[in-house]
Amino acid sequence: MTIRISGTGSALPKKILTNDDLSKIVETNDEWISSRTGIRERRIAGEGESVVTMGSEAARRALENAGANAGEMDLILVATCSGESYFPSTACQIQAEIHADHAVAFDISAACSGFLFALHTAQAYLSMGVYKKALVIGTETLSRVVDWTDRGTCVLFGDGAGACVVEASEIGLMNVVQHSDGSQGEVLISHASTFPTPSEQQGHPAVPLQMDGQAVFKFAVKTVPQCITEVLEQAGVHPEEIKYFVLHQANKRIIQSVAKRLKVEEEKFPVNLDRRGNTSAASIPILLDEMNRDGMLTRGDLLVLSGFGAGLTWAAALLTW
Ligand code: UT7
Repeated sequence: MTIRISGTGSALPKKILTNDDLSKIVETNDEWISSRTGIRERRIAGEGESVVTMGSEAARRALENAGANAGEMDLILVATCSGESYFPSTACQIQAEIHADHAVAFDISAACSGFLFALHTAQAYLSMGVYKKALVIGTETLSRVVDWTDRGTCVLFGDGAGACVVEASEIGLMNVVQHSDGSQGEVLISHASTFPTPSEQQGHPAVPLQMDGQAVFKFAVKTVPQCITEVLEQAGVHPEEIKYFVLHQANKRIIQSVAKRLKVEEEKFPVNLDRRGNTSAASIPILLDEMNRDGMLTRGDLLVLSGFGAGLTWAAALLTW
């Protein structure tokens, strides 16, 4: 017994921030951002838009797409690293918002790998028969965590949410590999909090997101092909059998390098980061939803999902759509 994705949904903020808009905030330009990352614009949450409102909207759309209702959900797992409060969890706030009254709800913190960590957790519960139906959601407002004076990071991130309804099933998620390396945690770190810390109260602001971009780049281009190869070998599936490789949307050059290392044509790696930027834990479910609604997915297709990010954490999943 495993799980299959029976519906997808996503929700994005209204405001579009283009590379030209960013050039008015920090010393940058469209040429640098688009050639180094592939990003042309991203969505930024405004007043009244949050991880809870977007996560709830994405969940409602996924439920509608699955032909399910919130009351049927046994479990809500939310992957986020930009929740508005330490507690209650974002998952509990979404549960209340969508009236999933009998669901158990909690958050999972694994940054940009969070959606895959959450999907694997859902599989563990559902395949054991503990629960039957779950919502797995990635929702982020990294724009509220980045340093808007740091051109090396603020140009990369966008806000949004994606959600999947998953159900216990005989076919679907085949296998998942997950890895963590806390010893490299300092290369991508955020101490930002919604509350003033003792040092902030003494006049020292909390440290926002900080990243050693080149270290993260090297980590990604090495570990992502490795864990995709691992997940395929475990299942005895050849890369050529995969219809799409749905990767965390961080940088077009990372995706191109992964495709090259796997010797798979780039066309099999769908991309939306040009319009969405890096939405961390939300990037994979947003892209999956866009592919689903664009009619790119047919039941029976083999897909690989793969994410990487702060922790450090990385993961890959092989599934039958
Ligand atoms: O979800 C995981 C999150 N993180 C990632 O995936 C990030 C992975 N890393 C990357 O994507 C790339 O390392 C970046 C896009 C962040 C940076 O690209 P890079 O090719 O590694 O550039 P760099 O950091 O080596 O910077 C090159 C130059 C520097 O100037 P100097 O020292 O050569 O004069 C930077 O100061 O580019 C400068 N620079 C910029 N210039 C214009 C850095 N950011 C910008 C900017 N606009 N936004």
